[in-house]
Amino acid sequence: MPYSSGIAGVYEPPPLPIGAVRAHAAQGGTPTPYLLCDIDIVELKVQRLRDALPGVTPYYAMKANPDVRVIERLKSLGVHFEVASIHELEMLANCGVDPREVIFSNPIKPLEAIRRAWEMGVTTMAVDDLDEIAKIGRVSGDIRMYLRMETSNTGSDWPLTGKFGSSISEAMEIIDHCADRGLKLIGLTFHVGSQCRNLDNWHTGIEGAQLLFSRMRERGLAPSLLNMGGGFPIQHTRPIPTMAEIGHTVQKSLAGLDPGIQVIAEPGRYLVGDSCWMVTRVVGTATRKGRRWLYLDIGAFTGLAETLEKFDYELLSDREGRLTPMTVAGPSCDTADVLFEEKMLPEDLEAGDFVYIPNAGAYTTAYASTFNGFPLPGMVLLERSGLASRGKVEQTTAG
Ligand SMILES: Cc1ncc(COP(=O)(O)O)c(C=O)c1O
Repeated sequence: MPYSSGIAGVYEPPPLPIGAVRAHAAQGGTPTPYLLCDIDIVELKVQRLRDALPGVTPYYAMKANPDVRVIERLKSLGVHFEVASIHELEMLANCGVDPREVIFSNPIKPLEAIRRAWEMGVTTMAVDDLDEIAKIGRVSGDIRMYLRMETSNTGSDWPLTGKFGSSISEAMEIIDHCADRGLKLIGLTFHVGSQCRNLDNWHTGIEGAQLLFSRMRERGLAPSLLNMGGGFPIQHTRPIPTMAEIGHTVQKSLAGLDPGIQVIAEPGRYLVGDSCWMVTRVVGTATRKGRRWLYLDIGAFTGLAETLEKFDYELLSDREGRLTPMTVAGPSCDTADVLFEEKMLPEDLEAGDFVYIPNAGAYTTAYASTFNGFPLPGMVLLERSGLASRGKVEQTTAG
């Protein structure tokens, strides 16, 4: 299992042993595909984030996994929330989250969503364009705005540039516009790209923000918020920086930041991704033009949407046959529903076998649809002992 972070003494992610996953699958009773979640890992990841980024307040990006049990655990730990839509905000409100502790980070929002969020108590919202600022102004001049700026997403497995984020020159224009009219522009945000494996992106983002903060101050605005967005990665098949390394880079880059500026982050994937395994089964196998194909009961439309952008997952099974390259596809009739090419898998895999996908807790169930009539994967919580015993596991395996 590629669980080593590469830094001596640090294990990332905390291991949820495959043995527990196999045992759960073997019990039967839960239709595949499903997520098996060890919710204690979510708690451990919150601790990791707080240790690495002291003084940075986490706002969970619930789009990664909006399961109520995840929300409730995070709420109990004092984590705040970031939403992209009114539906997400209403889910949080139903879980007893105070909307005043929620930020609305979608830079382009329907007018009705701005109005409803404001009425519910959300005070702080993202913008990245003058048109959106005008829309917000139609609801209330008291809404506090933070400006999403463009930054490098190089080396991020799921880049988030282009669609949102103002360039430095556009940001300058927005700052001038807000200063001239006395609008409540209170801060800046950026996103380094999801599953960001390049430390430089955090440095570049913070450097850009420092530049724009200077401009805000020159223009008489008093910045009070830096939102670093998400992007903190989890272990899949490619090397990642650890949270400790990211924390070190961020702390260094933040040196000199005005102490009056509150720093927050919006982790999504990092908090939930490695808390879950996807348990799936082989639907069938085939040989086409001399190549082996494996069809799973999970596909791009039922949870593995990120594979459409070549996002790679590890696949494990109970077979021990010789490894052979296989094309792995989902169950639907759509030819886009091909998950992996040339995946090295045991040649003796056959219909009915379990396949286990580690670190599948983020952007899987959240993306799933019932396309072609295939059911949505559910999420089952694994009953396990608490954090104390996990701490021991980490220490003994890390060395
Ligand atoms: C505005 C915003 N914040 C936070 C996130 C969460 O990012 P991640 O899951 O990479 O931490 C996203 C992801 O799309 C986002 O769009």
